[in-house]
Amino acid sequence: MQLDITDSDSIAALLDLITERYGRLDVLINNAAILYDRWQTIVDADLAQLQQAMDTNLYGALRLTQACLPLLRQAPHARIVNVSSGAGALRSMNGSTPVYSLSKIALNGLTLMLANQLKGDGILVNAVCPGWVATDMGGDGGRPIAEGAKGIVWAASLPADGPSGGFFRDGQAIEW
Ligand SMILES: NC(=O)c1ccc[n+]([C@@H]2O[C@H](COP(=O)([O-])OP(=O)(O)OC[C@H]3O[C@@H](n4cnc5c(N)ncnc54)[C@H](OP(=O)(O)O)[C@@H]3O)[C@@H](O)[C@H]2O)c1
Repeated sequence: MQLDITDSDSIAALLDLITERYGRLDVLINNAAILYDRWQTIVDADLAQLQQAMDTNLYGALRLTQACLPLLRQAPHARIVNVSSGAGALRSMNGSTPVYSLSKIALNGLTLMLANQLKGDGILVNAVCPGWVATDMGGDGGRPIAEGAKGIVWAASLPADGPSGGFFRDGQAIEW
């Protein structure tokens, strides 16, 4: 199914289909992201690009999550994985890739907020950095996609007593 997470109608169409076919949603992986802005730093960051990145990387994840919640609540062990990045770790903030980094800091904050609010529903919410992966965004030299995906699958299939509100890479906690 086609999905544009900046478009509420597109989200609604997908959710109609999932509701009709399955009646529940077990896992939501907020993976889509844009604008790995290697070409600028925070001192000259383009604010229009920041708004654009936020609309996908932060609002897109929140927009989709809010829309999915009724279906996630129908699943016995729902999981949400926010695909984040080491570029969103506060401790490594140096002003490079400013637009992307700010959007991932915010996504990490969203992860904590959702994890706390959804505890009572048994929905585990975590942020995962896939490492440097050889995708369109990562470019040559990164690790194979299957390797980057492993940590995401791990977080998507956590047991009921698994962690929530954490930041992980390869199944290991990393610093915010
Ligand atoms: N690659 C790395 O080294 C690396 C490192 C750390 C974190 N990450 C994170 O890993 C995740 C995946 O990144 P990637 O490396 O696979 O990037 P990518 O190769 O650029 O792929 C991004 C994906 O997001 C989709 N997307 C963008 N805007 C969208 C929208 N509005 N609605 C729906 N889908 C949209 C794109 O779909 P279309 O192709 O159809 O536009 C594409 O499939 C991202 O969250 C990224 O920040 C990647």
